[in-house]
Amino acid sequence: MKLNDYFKKAKSEHWAIGHFNFSTEDQLKAFVETAAELKSPLMVAVSEGEAKFFGRKQAAVLVKSFQEAGNPVFLNADHHKSWETIKDAIDADFDTVLIDGSKLPYDENVKLTKKVVEYAKKKNPEMMVEGELGYLKGESQIQDNVEISPADYTQPEQAADFVKQTGIDRLAIVFGNIHGIVTKQEEHLDISLLKKIAAAVPDTYLVLHGASGLPPAEIKEAIASGICNVHINTELRVAYIEALKQAIQTDPKQTTPYKFLGGSYEASKKAIKEKLELFGSVGKTG
Ligand code: G3H
Repeated sequence: MKLNDYFKKAKSEHWAIGHFNFSTEDQLKAFVETAAELKSPLMVAVSEGEAKFFGRKQAAVLVKSFQEAGNPVFLNADHHKSWETIKDAIDADFDTVLIDGSKLPYDENVKLTKKVVEYAKKKNPEMMVEGELGYLKGESQIQDNVEISPADYTQPEQAADFVKQTGIDRLAIVFGNIHGIVTKQEEHLDISLLKKIAAAVPDTYLVLHGASGLPPAEIKEAIASGICNVHINTELRVAYIEALKQAIQTDPKQTTPYKFLGGSYEASKKAIKEKLELFGSVGKTG
């Protein structure tokens, strides 16, 4: 099955495809192995920063090697903000891309997103393109507070216009979500706004970004109300680094990477397993 087929299935059956960022090969391998064990489709991604560290071409080639081994894993260019970086991802043969023009004035966001859709579809008619609307605050890290304001949320009428003008397949929306984990405030989703957006763009796949730190019950409710793709990064980074710190503390003389990285590999597997179960994608490839 292609990525588009999984999205069709997820939308009609009300479950979501998990999307997880990686910046090291062992993270990627842990995600792919876990999804294979659970018979779950999987999206993996590099942001611009992660791609700079990992290599965009290298990410594409490595994911291709997992696909050739029969794994239903798909590579996304996450939050690519410029024409140059997103073109590089399309040319590197990514399965899908997210052009994030959300910080641009609306007309410029439309113009850039439309240009990306046209270029991507010309290169590969099956390449899915995601656009973003609304101001998604925060960074994929642990923060005290991030200001959440309904003024930054995605507006249903504008979402309908954006989809019509750009021809995107997926739309990243803002309805209470932020990037990262906050320790001194609570993060909550506006499910009634989500339902209005879903009604305004009935043929577009809606994406929940910044799902780290959100209460699992709210993620479930969002999936039941129209979200069919959920992005997680910070929680996976935390799981990885905490296990790595512990391994180094426990055995400070250890110098063999595959030995001191064993704990973070297992922690990554555990973290993604919980998410795939929560999103309802387990068993969907079988
Ligand atoms: O695209 C990436 C995600 O939106 C990451 O968000 O760091 O809050 O999990 P997160």
